[in-house]
Amino acid sequence: MRILFVGDVVGRPGRETLLSMLPTLRRKYQPTFTIVNGENAAGGRGITPQIAKSFYEAGVQTITMGNHTWDNRAIFDFIDDEKKLVRPANYPPGAPGIGYTYIRSNELELAVINLMGRTFLPALDCPFRTVEELVATIRKRTPYIFVDFHAEATSEKQAIGWFLDGKVSAVVGTHTHVQTGDARILPQGTAYLTDVGMVGPYDSILGMEKEAVLNRFITQLPARFEVASGRTQFNAVVIEVDPTSGKARQIETIRIDDEHPLSE
Ligand SMILES: [Fe+2]
Repeated sequence: MRILFVGDVVGRPGRETLLSMLPTLRRKYQPTFTIVNGENAAGGRGITPQIAKSFYEAGVQTITMGNHTWDNRAIFDFIDDEKKLVRPANYPPGAPGIGYTYIRSNELELAVINLMGRTFLPALDCPFRTVEELVATIRKRTPYIFVDFHAEATSEKQAIGWFLDGKVSAVVGTHTHVQTGDARILPQGTAYLTDVGMVGPYDSILGMEKEAVLNRFITQLPARFEVASGRTQFNAVVIEVDPTSGKARQIETIRIDDEHPLSE
């Protein structure tokens, strides 16, 4: 079983890059499951039903979210009907939407959990306790579990990785938009990557126009950030999972930009 997970898609440049690259990558890697983080897909903040639909039509089975889940109000019109879009599972009880879902390919069933860190981010419920309970429930049904941990702090991401080692197939971080070089298999068989990186503007600061971000740092005045334009980057990860045990066999990062052209 092979999982292709694509990092935070930022704005229109990210969406266009995702939709143009996916056919080639799906041909090359033949993923059983394709998952995309879409929390920045609508103008850098949130997602709309039209965008979600375009991702599903491109072969994406599940969309994961994060701290920008509620930033585009269109989410409230469709999230309750969504069975494949997951927002952080550790939002307090009563939040719209779902924190995990199951996706199928033939006889294989993969559970996808979205979870959010609390360090330098809003103080949601404890991600450790939340995921521990979820995994206990899910493992009665399937050993194949993918976790998108949307978090700011590397330490919190590593902590969740070790916490879940041997209990899930993979823990991959999102949110910081820069791919890290620490892809590995932890000793008990969980694939781990601190951050998968983003899809969208390459000459930018985390996908946003660099001038406005720079200006805010320099002047300390409020500034409006817009998604940058120009050349783009594509970051993702491919994880090979043992079809009997659910443990990870291999993890390989994908980084495509002008310095790292796609190798066929
Ligand atoms: Fe985020």
